Amino acid sequence: MKTLRFTNGDEMPCIGLGTWKSSPGDVYQAVVEAIRAGYRHIDCAYIYGNEPEVGAALKLCFSEGIVRREDLWITSKLWNSAHLKQDVVPALKLTLNSLGLDYLDLYLIHWPVALIPGTAFPKTAEEFLSPEQAPLSETWAGMEAGVQAGLTRHIGVSNFSIRKIKNLFRSASIRPELVQIESHPFLIQQEMMEFAHAEQMHLTAYAPLGAKDRSKKLEGEPDLLGCPLIGEIASRKGCSPAQILISWQLSRGWSTIPKSVNPERIRQNLDASSVLLTEQEMESISGLNLNYRYYTGALWNLGGPAYQASALWD
Ligand code: A2P
Repeated sequence: MKTLRFTNGDEMPCIGLGTWKSSPGDVYQAVVEAIRAGYRHIDCAYIYGNEPEVGAALKLCFSEGIVRREDLWITSKLWNSAHLKQDVVPALKLTLNSLGLDYLDLYLIHWPVALIPGTAFPKTAEEFLSPEQAPLSETWAGMEAGVQAGLTRHIGVSNFSIRKIKNLFRSASIRPELVQIESHPFLIQQEMMEFAHAEQMHLTAYAPLGAKDRSKKLEGEPDLLGCPLIGEIASRKGCSPAQILISWQLSRGWSTIPKSVNPERIRQNLDASSVLLTEQEMESISGLNLNYRYYTGALWNLGGPAYQASALWD
């Protein structure tokens, strides 16, 4: 399995199991299946509401000797309601407690959006904190405290724009080492990719298969897995469209976290690492770009100008 190497020598396997949208009832078996199949990277988040079940699955895998903790890469994410500096380490400890771990490999700020403590998803404007009340630089200082306390080996950001990452650089004593963002052939994120490479940051693509199990889908959104070009390349190679989408990410140096709770698809997605694309195929797939986001962050519009799409993705 291809890996991304961090400056301290740690290596993150390029294919991880996504757990966003995996219900607590399904995720236990999915994680066990994935680890048995050879996955060594699991992507989690507090807000997915399933970390205790992921933790139970990890516990089983450790106790049965299927894998050792040090052979796994576990990522989790700080929810928006714990952005105040003093709330970050307690949130990280809560996640560790749910996962049954002593440390994470990677902890990410999930969104550049702050909610008042205790809010999961906001229903009114009053449930937000403004960027002045909860500056991202302060949240980042809390993330750094997590590294200093030995609770996470690496820290990074998710859903941040280039501008917001540059702002973090100004005050950071530990630079973000990885950016996790939505990416697939309809949203190739070329500018972010060039920026991240120039700044020695790694990239993880979420929603690599188009996240079609999202609850709030828009009418008429483009169908990634059903895209004719992807299907044509897949049948030529005798593999599935999902494998082409995953292989495309690996070939351009990204890690990616396809979500599945289905044992056959879990294995199939990992096997995508053996699907090789030619330069011409890579180019034609990248040519599908529409700058189309499946996950727009429209949920944060309620929080006023600082959190509307134009400011969110500035
Ligand atoms: P399931 O969990 O039933 O396998 P994303 O990773 O972009 O968020 O996409 C997740 C969606 O893609 C889920 O609906 C998941 O369903 C589905 N999926 C995962 N792997 C495959 C695959 N190999 N082929 C088709 N659909 C897949």
